[in-house]
Amino acid sequence: MQVVHTRAELLAWHEAHPAPLGFVPTMGNLHAGHLALVTAAQAENAQVAVSIFVNPTQFGPNEDFSAYPRTLDSDIAVLEAAGCDLLLAPTAATMYPAGTDTRIVPGAVGESLCGPFRPGHFSGVATVVATLWHLVQPQRAYFGTKDWQQCMVLRRLLLDLAFPLEMVLVPTKREADGLAMSSRNQYLSAAERSQALQIHRALTAAVGAFQDGERHPATLQRLTLEVLSREADLKPQYVAVVDAETLQPITGSIGSPTTVAIAAHLGKTRLIDNCVLGDVTPLLRTCL
Ligand code: PAJ
Repeated sequence: MQVVHTRAELLAWHEAHPAPLGFVPTMGNLHAGHLALVTAAQAENAQVAVSIFVNPTQFGPNEDFSAYPRTLDSDIAVLEAAGCDLLLAPTAATMYPAGTDTRIVPGAVGESLCGPFRPGHFSGVATVVATLWHLVQPQRAYFGTKDWQQCMVLRRLLLDLAFPLEMVLVPTKREADGLAMSSRNQYLSAAERSQALQIHRALTAAVGAFQDGERHPATLQRLTLEVLSREADLKPQYVAVVDAETLQPITGSIGSPTTVAIAAHLGKTRLIDNCVLGDVTPLLRTCL
């Protein structure tokens, strides 16, 4: 695996390697969820590139930017073992050159769910991903449905600003007991780790009710919140039942693909998870 840091090194790498290139952007501290994206990329591309960049512009002033785990050496070993071809570990100056003054601002899709609680977050994500797409120039890019809102924000970015690549979504990788894998899980104490599982139980209850025929968003929302609230230490920020693509509220009963999304604090850690109801296949691949 070659490790590059700058645009010039990337361009030289491109000259020497055949397309198609599959690309997995990350913030590092890699776990099996990230590797599921690498595996999906390897299945349909000649080369696979991963990027590791802890993007300052997507963290709020009171969020965990400085505490975010940085484990580049072990990440390189993990990617070598996985057979990844290229790692981009860009310098801050490659991503944000001196005088940087431009931001992408997503529309309504970025304003729902996490939007009000993380002002500027999706602008930071959209801006850094657009820059990475331009630098890396992949034919396909891979994202995890664990971050469903991020996926829908980036889907609009691709369609609205005509990025010439295909975006592919990969299902959430979970621990054996159902907890969604996340770099932030390591912030949890042993007690919190078992309490966190209630998020998965709440989503499972929503899926079960939907399978049993429940189609009223408010009823599904109440049920999910009720199951979540059985764990008193979990402090829900939101529990939402929204249109899976636009992330806007559903009027009437559920007739199109829907997302149930949860954000909750457990001690100092903020956790998110979601499930989709109905057939979201058309949303799993996006291109012009
Ligand atoms: P990061 O949190 O490192 O995640 C990188 C990618 O891995 C994202 O597409 C995320 O959805 C996916 N991922 C994380 N946990 C997963 C899991 N349990 N199962 C499947 N996929 C999972 O998301 C980011 O970084 C950043 O916002 C980024 C897109 C890199 C922009 O800075």
